[in-house]
Amino acid sequence: MTTRLPQGHRYHRDVVVDLEARWFLGGVEIPGRVVLAPMAGVSVQAFRRQGRRYGAGLVCSEMVSVAGIQHGNERTLGYLRVASDEHPLAIQIFGSDPEAMAEAARRVEAAGADIVDINFGCPVRKVTKTGAGASLLDDPVHAARIVAAVVRAVDLPVSVKMRRGTANGSRDCLVVGPALVEAGAASLTLHPRSARQMYTGFADHSLTAELVSLVAVPVVASGDVTSAARAQEVLSQTGAEAVMIGRAAQGNPWVIREIRGMSGEPSPEEVVAELLLFMRESVRELGERRASGFLKKFYAWYLGRGRFPRAFRQELVLLQSVEEVERRLLAAAPGAAELLEKLERLDGPLDEVVLDSLPISIYGGG
Ligand SMILES: Cc1cc2nc3c(=O)[nH]c(=O)nc-3n(C[C@H](O)[C@H](O)[C@H](O)COP(=O)(O)O)c2cc1C
Repeated sequence: MTTRLPQGHRYHRDVVVDLEARWFLGGVEIPGRVVLAPMAGVSVQAFRRQGRRYGAGLVCSEMVSVAGIQHGNERTLGYLRVASDEHPLAIQIFGSDPEAMAEAARRVEAAGADIVDINFGCPVRKVTKTGAGASLLDDPVHAARIVAAVVRAVDLPVSVKMRRGTANGSRDCLVVGPALVEAGAASLTLHPRSARQMYTGFADHSLTAELVSLVAVPVVASGDVTSAARAQEVLSQTGAEAVMIGRAAQGNPWVIREIRGMSGEPSPEEVVAELLLFMRESVRELGERRASGFLKKFYAWYLGRGRFPRAFRQELVLLQSVEEVERRLLAAAPGAAELLEKLERLDGPLDEVVLDSLPISIYGGG
């Protein structure tokens, strides 16, 4: 596969693994080996479309509650919106009842996703106490029952994202993983921290390597991949099919480009233009009121990393409306206006036909 490099970008020297190589998840072709992580409160459609634009081979929705789908909760149903330029896209569901999971998977399929992803990794008590998320790693038989029910329900490939286990030092993923493949999972993503660890310590990718040696389906490595060097190291040392990028991509789509082997820090104008596009899309997706709260953490993420002074970031967070933030950003980086216009042309219109199939009130923020 040939790679298009924007002018001025060049490959790193020590490339071992070709990150542009395509791979298959079930029957779905994934055009690259960098995957954008599902992150609750982050992985909205604007984030996923941006990730695809920077070269993520696969993007994923945040975890969607099966109970919310069952009850027809409008905000939950909003998570099932799929735009035509997101593909390939996985939508992730969480729950504990096999039949409810199967029904939710049918809804995911009908919404137009390419892959149904199951969450067996969420460590948050609110989720684990309902028997969902990482708690299923303690019950491999039930976990396999869920996977089998979902696989039976849809024609799409079914993937599972999990942690190493619930307890610190656990190696349960090496037992649960193969059982889930046996039950029909077409791919596994491993974040090799325990649920107990939350995000402390480090992701022990020696477990990822062990898991790869035990299953015949693609494994995706998630956890602490923040640079091209680390991505190369993880891929070559584990034999994983792809690396997943989470926190490093928050307010930082450029890390995807960097990990794919292209150097180049964004200019302040580029940063502001991407942020403005993200803000406009978020408002369209979530409605002005919800978006204004949702976006605050993104101001710090985009403008941090030594890109803009702290005082400027703090000032933005205090502004009342998204429109005011937009004005302030354009005053700080006037050259961003022209870049934004270009980005909006490039990004193209959303596939309104798909959007129209959901209740209209969702557009207003629900
Ligand atoms: C804010 C946040 C929200 C997350 N939400 C989800 C989620 O909805 N589903 C999931 O499977 N993992 C979720 N994760 C875990 C990430 O997908 C990823 O596995 C983890 O952050 C480790 O990767 P990283 O070191 O690249 O961030 C979340 C992580 C963060 C930081």
